Amino acid sequence: MQVTFLPHQIQQLARPGEQLMAIAAEAGVIIDGNCGSSGTCGRCRIQIVSGIVAPPDQAESAVLTAEDLAAGFRLACRIIVQEDLCIKVPGINKAKDRKTKMMTLLKSYRLGSSVHKYYFKISQASLDDQKDDLSRILSALQGKATAFAPELLSQIPWILEKSDRQITAVVRDSLIIGLEPGDTTDRLYGVAFDIGTTTVVGMLWDLSKGELLGIKARTNPQKIYGADVISRINSANTDQNALIQMKVMIRDCLNEIIGELMIESDWISLAPDNHETQPVQHEIQAMQHKALNKQDIYDVTVVGNTTMSHLFMGVNPAQLAMAPFVPVFCDAVSQNASNAALTANPLAQVLLLPNIAGHVGSDIVAVILASDLIAQKGLRLVIDVGTNGEIVLAQNGMMLACSTAAGPAFEGASIFQGMRATEGAIESVQIIGGDVVLSIIDSETPIGLCGSGLIDAVAQLLDAGLLDAKGRLMDQQSARDQGLPEPLVQRLRDGAGGREFVLAWGSKSEQDIVLTQKDIREVQLAKGAIHAGILILLQEMGAAVKDLASITLAGAFGNYIRKESGLRIGLLPEIPIDQIISAGNAAGSGASLALLSQEERCQALELAKAVRHVELAAHPEFQAEFLKSMYFPEGSAAK
Ligand code: FES
Repeated sequence: MQVTFLPHQIQQLARPGEQLMAIAAEAGVIIDGNCGSSGTCGRCRIQIVSGIVAPPDQAESAVLTAEDLAAGFRLACRIIVQEDLCIKVPGINKAKDRKTKMMTLLKSYRLGSSVHKYYFKISQASLDDQKDDLSRILSALQGKATAFAPELLSQIPWILEKSDRQITAVVRDSLIIGLEPGDTTDRLYGVAFDIGTTTVVGMLWDLSKGELLGIKARTNPQKIYGADVISRINSANTDQNALIQMKVMIRDCLNEIIGELMIESDWISLAPDNHETQPVQHEIQAMQHKALNKQDIYDVTVVGNTTMSHLFMGVNPAQLAMAPFVPVFCDAVSQNASNAALTANPLAQVLLLPNIAGHVGSDIVAVILASDLIAQKGLRLVIDVGTNGEIVLAQNGMMLACSTAAGPAFEGASIFQGMRATEGAIESVQIIGGDVVLSIIDSETPIGLCGSGLIDAVAQLLDAGLLDAKGRLMDQQSARDQGLPEPLVQRLRDGAGGREFVLAWGSKSEQDIVLTQKDIREVQLAKGAIHAGILILLQEMGAAVKDLASITLAGAFGNYIRKESGLRIGLLPEIPIDQIISAGNAAGSGASLALLSQEERCQALELAKAVRHVELAAHPEFQAEFLKSMYFPEGSAAK
């Protein structure tokens, strides 16, 4: 029995009685899901193109409209496959595009990876010169290597024979980790990985030239265990098999990315987005050969939040879900690719960068490295907005960091019609006079609202006077009494879940897209937590908002959020807009720097210890600041 997943025609064999969602996961097709397959979140919506399945159950009938069902839409988590099926997965693989399009290194650095290749010819032995082959190799390297990986010994005879004794040695920190016949000095690669809770990105670099060769991203397959870190921690803690599975899944995911990087590359122009300092621009280099060889990958760096680091190592992250939120490990972990089960050269080093604390991981170490926070003068704030808002405040070399449980609102997960930034998501909203102008990703018709659209919508409603500073959406009568434009007043209504504002009117078969009062509360909670975290760090530093020289927004979300809207809703502290910088995938940039430069790598290894972690849950002022921060600022904050 076979299931075909469109649009990429991925085929997977299945046994009768298997759940469609599980078959998709096996096929590497990621279908959203956020309710542990209980059929309540509606995120695993797929369309049956051909094949017969059982009629919808109660859960599906509650989540899907009659029109949806008539058009073949069903919930993947509720479908038990009994015969060949062809299904279409909406929005597949689009979300990753946002993350892959914004990789750029943010600072200059001294190129010099920890791995080097040397080409030389070794002399023939004779009765007069009976020095062994290994000694000849070591002496040809003239002190650049002093030791030899024993795994290579058995290769020496055939390599010397095959190459007429002309060989290339691969050396890492004075240790020979590779021997290759002939001159292969033009093939030395490394991959930097940023393991996000939602998206995993891999960047392939030419280590000797410092050239970016490709970027690939995939949805984190652990998603089937929950959209956020807490769900995954709970799964890992309650089911040993889930912990093992998540380790296998993430490693498979990295291998798939490596496979894609080897075969094809996206030639993406990495234009910077208004950086304060001129970044080093790395355009992906077009290569002459079609496919690279995984054996030529001799170095790998990995960053991720602390939970992702634990799951990558197969370590139960249970402690991260309960006070005092202590990780099992913070230090960097180095292992060979063969031990890490990565399809690179078996002796390549796989270096997982160090974590700072339970919810401030190596991705933030990478962000600090890429933003050059240590070297910069003045008071600098870096915010990585995701499910957790990670915040770093630096002043003249002193660094504080905290993490706030912002919740998944900005990733669309707790929003009524929220969705990730995929096809059909409203990504920006403007209210002009009585009109609501939407920008939708890759589509004419909206199907939901992603984080940047959500923030825009709230900011625009505030500016239009339809929403007050306490976060209350106005009723129709009050809006009319205040003389607000009638087309906007018409969009206010009482829906099934309370008051709502219609962002887009649906046609016959499409539902209206609305922003509900509850959605606005979710935004208040998320932005309140981040804003309060910022204020606490400022307090700990003995500084104030007015002292801030810059705010850097890291991460996918930070790159797309409109700064004016971030200021308007009070997510960002009120500083001049030109002092707010979007840094793109700064974690990926930091992981790449640690790959390309030993100097940067050493700095990254030291950084985690140099940052003081501030635990907000234990801070006496946090709760009060959080409650205050839930209000929206009066009037326009953007300058
Ligand atoms: S409805 Fe939530 S995963 Fe299917």
